[in-house]
Amino acid sequence: MASSPGQGEGNDPPYWLSQAAREPNVGIPSVPVLHDKRVSRIDKISHYLSGQSSIFQTLMDLRVEGSQHPDKERFFNTMKIIGREIQSATSFFSIPPHNGRLPLRILDMGMAPGAFLQLAMEENPDAMAHAFSLPVENGGLEVQVALDSNAVTIELVDVNMLAVDLGVDVIPQYHPDANKFSPRKLYPHDTFHLAICDAQVPSSNVQDAYRKRYEQTRLMYAQLAIALDHMGVGGSMLVFIHKIEAWDSIMLIRSFCMFSDVKLFKPTKVHAKRSSCYMIATNIQPKHEEAIKSVNSWKQLWRTATFDTETMFNSLFESQNPSVPDVLEDFGPMLAILGNEAWEVQANALESWLEEIC
Ligand SMILES: C[S@@+](CC[C@H](N)C(=O)[O-])C[C@H]1O[C@@H](n2cnc3c(N)ncnc32)[C@H](O)[C@@H]1O
Repeated sequence: MASSPGQGEGNDPPYWLSQAAREPNVGIPSVPVLHDKRVSRIDKISHYLSGQSSIFQTLMDLRVEGSQHPDKERFFNTMKIIGREIQSATSFFSIPPHNGRLPLRILDMGMAPGAFLQLAMEENPDAMAHAFSLPVENGGLEVQVALDSNAVTIELVDVNMLAVDLGVDVIPQYHPDANKFSPRKLYPHDTFHLAICDAQVPSSNVQDAYRKRYEQTRLMYAQLAIALDHMGVGGSMLVFIHKIEAWDSIMLIRSFCMFSDVKLFKPTKVHAKRSSCYMIATNIQPKHEEAIKSVNSWKQLWRTATFDTETMFNSLFESQNPSVPDVLEDFGPMLAILGNEAWEVQANALESWLEEIC
């Protein structure tokens, strides 16, 4: 789900600390500069090619424009198909009876276009929902469902800017987005029975060079930390997983296995050739020591990725991660069992596709 953190490069300044902060009169550069070692290779190459070829520059502009106008209807229908398949295979969207503890509450961390939330509201007609989604002007998708506004609160905000909800009350004023962090959105006592963590960074969102490196990593930690922090005992979470065998995914699945019942589900009708799948965690025990530890660790990683240096992030990440052999020894067999079905779906889809094209 998240991209891996970059490599440390000595005592570097905070990655977002622009030239402006080092030389106060210079102004914040809006495009990466070629001599900056920390700018990724692809940025350097694109920057160079844009200067050499006007066709390449036009293509780059068209790519951004195209990603801002995806085939909305098709994407919404795809999400509906995925949602229905998840529901018929796992009943995830039906909240189990909760001994009269009403109202049932649903949290959606990246709601638009809204297929999953619509399904969840249909399955639990008495539920109340709180949903976040990135504003369209920041590259977010449009909400395409009409839900009862008495039951559903939709907040168009960037989850990566929910600093107070992530435990940061005082924003360093020298941060380039210091004024853009949001006030608290959820109260400490807000608890939910079902949470959907499907926010994924749109390619057109991250225009600021300083945000590029950790955007998806921060988004993963932010949505997981907030959702698990507000989860009620016995609740359920759906989490988008980019690739099961990626390190971040393994660590995430391993953590959830310690305080919930975990399944990995991969839809067969759409996106079957892709590596992505969904983690479905039920019977979550949010007061379990490991759950509390996970929330604290995700908040700390989000905070460091947001406000500190790349070196500090890397050393925190390393300090919180066990070695590969240790993880494989204690969790490898379970991972293979959990991943099998999803891998089989992808293998079958790729096999059929290869037969078709060869
Ligand atoms: C795959 S779509 C979610 C689809 C949704 N689950 C559905 O069923 O229709 C990912 C969503 O995450 C949102 N998103 C991306 N970055 C975000 C951020 N930083 N904060 C909040 N939402 C974000 C996108 O705008 C998009 O709506």
